[in-house]
Parts: sequence; structure tokens; C-alpha cells
Amino acid sequence: MEYTVSVMNRFFAPALLCLLILGCARPSDKPVYLDHSKPLEERVEDALSRMTLEEKVALTHAQSKFSSAGVPRLGIPELWHTDGPHGIRPEVLWDEWDQAGWTNDSCTAFPALVNLAATWDRDLSHLYGECIGAEARYRKKDILLGPGINMGRTPLNGRTFEYMGEDPYLAGELVVPYVQGVQDNGVAACVKHFAVNNQEVRRTATSSNLDDRTLYEIYLPAFRKAVQEGGTWAIMGSYNLYNGQFNCHNKKLLCDILKGEWGFDGVVISDWGGCRDDDEAITNGLDIEMGTWTNGLRGAASDSYANYHLANPYLERLRDGRATEEVLDDKARRILRTVFRTSMSPEQHFGSFTSPEHFAAARKIAADGIVLLKNDGTLPLNPADGARILVVGENAYKMMVVGGGSSNLKTKYEIIPLDALHEAFDDKASVVWERGYVGDVTTDYNKVVTGQDLSESRSAQQLLSDAVAAAKDADYVIYMGGLNKSRNQDNEGTDRLDIVLPYGQDVLIEALAEVSDKLVVVNISGSPVAMPWASKVNAIVQAWYGGSESGHALVDVLTGAVNPSGKLPFTMPLALADGPLKTERQYPGIQEEGKQWWQEYYDEGVFIGYRWYDTQNIPVQYPFGHGLSYTTFDLSNASVKPSGKGWTVSATLENTGDVPGAEVVQLYIADTEASVPRPVKELKGFEKIYLQPGEKRQVKFNIGLEDLSFFDAASHAWVAEPGEFKALLGTSSADIRAEIPFNYGK
Ligand code: GLC
Repeated sequence: MEYTVSVMNRFFAPALLCLLILGCARPSDKPVYLDHSKPLEERVEDALSRMTLEEKVALTHAQSKFSSAGVPRLGIPELWHTDGPHGIRPEVLWDEWDQAGWTNDSCTAFPALVNLAATWDRDLSHLYGECIGAEARYRKKDILLGPGINMGRTPLNGRTFEYMGEDPYLAGELVVPYVQGVQDNGVAACVKHFAVNNQEVRRTATSSNLDDRTLYEIYLPAFRKAVQEGGTWAIMGSYNLYNGQFNCHNKKLLCDILKGEWGFDGVVISDWGGCRDDDEAITNGLDIEMGTWTNGLRGAASDSYANYHLANPYLERLRDGRATEEVLDDKARRILRTVFRTSMSPEQHFGSFTSPEHFAAARKIAADGIVLLKNDGTLPLNPADGARILVVGENAYKMMVVGGGSSNLKTKYEIIPLDALHEAFDDKASVVWERGYVGDVTTDYNKVVTGQDLSESRSAQQLLSDAVAAAKDADYVIYMGGLNKSRNQDNEGTDRLDIVLPYGQDVLIEALAEVSDKLVVVNISGSPVAMPWASKVNAIVQAWYGGSESGHALVDVLTGAVNPSGKLPFTMPLALADGPLKTERQYPGIQEEGKQWWQEYYDEGVFIGYRWYDTQNIPVQYPFGHGLSYTTFDLSNASVKPSGKGWTVSATLENTGDVPGAEVVQLYIADTEASVPRPVKELKGFEKIYLQPGEKRQVKFNIGLEDLSFFDAASHAWVAEPGEFKALLGTSSADIRAEIPFNYGK
């Protein structure tokens, strides 16, 4: 012992002193906020304590079209925001929407989110988030402005293609892994557009008016899951009003629900131009104001950022006592937290861009979301040598990644369906294309161009005649039409005017059906369309805007290289009039005496989508959750057993066909004794299961009281009423294979 002490005294102590003097072992004098080893909240508080009032206010608004300020003096970087949900938007000039003309920002274009929704695959959603988050990180972007998860209240919504369908459970289950995948890259997901933003018509001037039960049961659940299960670091306020207050500073939505009830600790970012009021922007939960044309300074005059609601007007209010630094500090904390989660994250992220893996992921997601609606055996295509394949329709050729609004992308490449068909069949068959109709001839958006020439000299009649004439000699006719990204179609800023196919396509398809007994119709769209010719064609495929690999993905399914497993994320109605929106006050809204803004009333309540059609027994073209396969499946041994505080619903799925495939087993719950009007079924579970021919597997769902409940506005609580319920197991909302009654509380 004595020896040890003496050695310490003689050797170690002086050595330690030297080290301390030399600074080698000096306790870190790095400021806490710069010390990645420190807990997040300590870094936040330390940074905040060093900031001036002006620096804190600077954080809360844009400094350019897509960036908000950091703290240069402290070495805290600015936040870079980027669209969109389907891929990383090309770089824009400081104050511009138009692209900056860089040559290194052509991205991977992933499938539209409705395509992802149609996969009903949580793992693919996580893969999607991982890939797009990696591309955002590589492009040094901190906040991805997506995903969008607004409910499909009307099939006319111009942004249906950017969202995840008509059911809150499906959208909620898929948004969680997407957000987690994005944020694994040190990039914040910014889930949008919060909330009840369900149309594009007068989107900046319409108040969505609805009761609490409808709000909590239909329009909030997917956002709540994104926050409480997905842990999203950002939320985007929407343009519209909710119950009379603009959503980018709506007290009930942002303060009471999002930050209050749900405990959201991230940032609320306004939609671009969504902030409309100085005082509300300060007090009602907005943290970063983006895209404002303040005080009528449209077009972003050079000093407009200083005139933002949360800029000089805010500083004035802080200095004259109308605003408190406490509220400002909450905004600043949330923004600093976002910086320390992203560009200053303890984990170093570098991302990756346009990798083969990303294109492969895009192709798989696109293919797995393609929905086989009808098939008499004509698919998969297996043409004999020398067969003549006629392809008809503009969408076989037209590139669809460019356009549609803020989700517009400049991609490295886009495989069009026609080229993919040539790749697949040119060695054994002849593939000929007839345009059939002229749709949208634009080929550019925000100075992003496709390079295609869509000009056409033939008349509509000539185009139709040429297609029909060619069809008479063809062994197969593959029609590829649908919608596109132009005005009043799948396009931000406008809604559709009907669900009837545009450009005279119904007449063309009927004419082709007259002359061909091997007619496959591929509808490429992001939203529902009417199909009056459905009984006259051999097969129908619902394809989506599949991104860079869309053509390959579609042909993978048409040839059977991929067995289709997609399921509709929304109802395909027979006609728009069959839907729940019957009056102008329901949609697109009305003007009322003494009210500045348009007013829209969600009188249909919770009854949207299949909740409406199934409860009203209204026939539809194809139901929510519908999708066929090249194999067949059987569901048996269904049961409901009490387990813990809830129940376990189980069944056995078997692949009874002769090719591998996947089925989505869907669980709906029916409350047969409710004291309030409830839908005859509500989706409360789904599992996508891949099986080899002959393979069987048990599928299980654990449900609890929350799955039986409705939202009671009076008590502001979820209520499960004792009585009889039914578990409905099936492969679509209409194809219910088992109904098992069970009791709760009686
Ligand atoms: C747009 C969209 C929003 C987008 C933002 C930035 O108006 O509503 O989804 O992220 O502005 O482009």
C-alpha cells in the first residue's frame, strides 16, 4: 500500500499535472451545445442561453424560399427544407420556385404516396423512408416536406396522389415507418397538411367546419400516430381554416391537440404562404413561418423576410411588451431541438443519392402497389412468338414525374411503360403504339423539362380510328390511359371536376373492346376514375405514378415477373354522385353572410369512403382494399378469443394456387349495438403475407378497447360501449370471408 501511494506521489500526480497544463486531459471546454455527447435538452438549453432576442426571432421565419435562419455567431447552421414526399426537389434559386439549373441534383423519383399506400406494406414504407431520407441527407437537406396523409374525403381532391387513401388506420400504419425511415438519416419528416385539408379548391380561403367526433375519428388519427408512434420531428400547418381559424396558427389544432394532448416536441412549420396573422402566429403554436408574401409583398421583394409576421412585427411586440420571451423561447427550443436532431446530430449521417438500391426500391414499391382489379386469365401476358401487341394510350409514353405541383421532380431517368414493353417483348413479338387520344402536351414545370415532344397533328377522330384499325390486327391490345398531372387532374392547386376519364377515353376503350377479345386496360392515375367499360374488357390494372422505375414496375406485373399484391387504398365508385358529398356546403364550400372566408361543412361526419358506401349499401366499381393476384388464397379457421384486456382474432391463410404470391388479410370491426350511428365496419388491422403455393400460415390480430371505441365529443373521450361486436376478416372491405361475433362487457 505504502509503495503504491509513494509511486502515485512521485510519478502519476506530476504527470497528471503536466497533462492538465498541456491541455491534453483538460476537461472539455467545448460549449455544451456543441458537445454531441451531451443530452439533447442540455444542448438546447445551453444554446438558448447564449442567444440574443434578435437571434431567437430570426430562427422563427424563412431567410430564403426553402431555408430558415440558424445562429451564425454560435456556429448553429440554418435549417434547409425540401420538397417533397416522392423525392428531393431540384435546388431552387434563393427566392424562386424555379429550379436553379444545377447539374448534380437529379434525384431518384420514388412512387407517389398513393402507390405506397396501395402496397399495404409497413416494411416497404420504412424502406421508402430510409431511401428518400438518405437522398435528402446527401443533398444536405434537414427537413423533408412530407409525407402527406390527408384523408380521401372526395375523389376530386387534386392531391389524392400525394396522400395515403381514405382510411385513417391504413394511413396511420404506413406513415409511422415512413417517418422513422426518414429520420434514421438525421432528416426531419414534416408530416402534412395539418389538418382537415381535403381539397385544393380555394385551399387558402376555405374553413373546414366539423364536429369533434369526426375530427378525432377520421382526420386526426394518422397525424396522431405520426407524432406519438412515428415520433415525427416536424408538422406542416395547412392553408385552410378549421372552424374559422387559419391552420398555420390554429390554437385548438396546434396548442390544445398537437402540443397539448399529443405532447409533440418538434416544430410546426407553416405551409408556404399559410401564415396570415401577426398575433396568432406568435401565440397559437406556429414555430417557423415559411413562404409568406408579407403585407402584399408578393413575389418576395428583397426585404420581404424582415416583414414576415414572425420577423419585425414580432420583434416590435417583444420590445413593447405585447409578446413574451417565454413564448419565443418555446419556439426557439423546438427549432434548436430540430437542428440538434438533424445537421448537428450526434450520429454522423451522410446519406446516398440515386444509388442502384434506391432505384431498385422504387421499382419494388411501385410494383407491389399495382392493383389487379379484374382478370379473366388474359394476364400475365404470355404472347406466342411473333405475336402482335398493340399499345394504345398517351400514358404509355408520357413521362409523369415532372409536374403536379410541389411534388414535381427532376429525376435521373424515368422508364416509360412503352419502353419497358419493348424491352420485355421485342425479341419475340412486335410492339406497336397508337396514341389514341391527346391529353396533356406540357413537358415542363418550374423549368424542369422531360425532353419529350407530345405534339400531335391528327384529330381526335383520326387518332381513335387509327387505334381501332390497328387493334383489329393485334393479338393483344394493352390500353394505357388514365389521368396526368395537368390542371383539374392529379395536380396541386386544382381539384378534378368529375371522376369520368378525360379526353374521350371511355369512347376509345369501348371502341377497342368492340374489336379485341384480348383487351387489357391499365389505368394510370393517382385518384379514382369511373370505369363504365369494366365488364367489356378482359383485365383491368390500376397503376400509379410509379416514379423513375414506373415502366419497369408495370411490365413486371403485366408479365408476371411480379405477382400483383396491391390493394386499393380508396374506393373506386361507379359515379361521383354516389359519394357522401351531396351539397355545395359539403363541397366545395359556400359563402355566408358576414363571413370573409368560404365555409365548408363536413355534414357527412365519419361516413367517408367505404364507411359511406358500405353503410349505405351503395354498389361500387371496386371496393376499398380490393386487389387480385395471379394465385388464389383461402382464409379459414377464423376465431376471436379473449386475451388479456382485449381479444386475439386469428385465421389461417393458404395459397391455394400454383404461383407464389401475397395476400393482405384485413380485419374490420363492427359495433352492432352502438348508441350512436357508426359505420358498418372500420379497418382495425391488416397483415400482408407472402406464401408459396400450398403454404399455410396463421395470421393474428390483437385488438383492445380502443379498437371498439368511438369518440364521444361530450366527454372528450374514446368510448367502448358494452355489447355485441363482430370481427370481419377478409381480403377487401367487400370480400369478407368470416364474421365472428364477440361480446364486450355483457
Ligand atoms: C406548397 C404545398 C406544400 C409544399 C410547400 C413548399 O404549396 O402545399 O405541400 O411542401 O408549398 O413547396
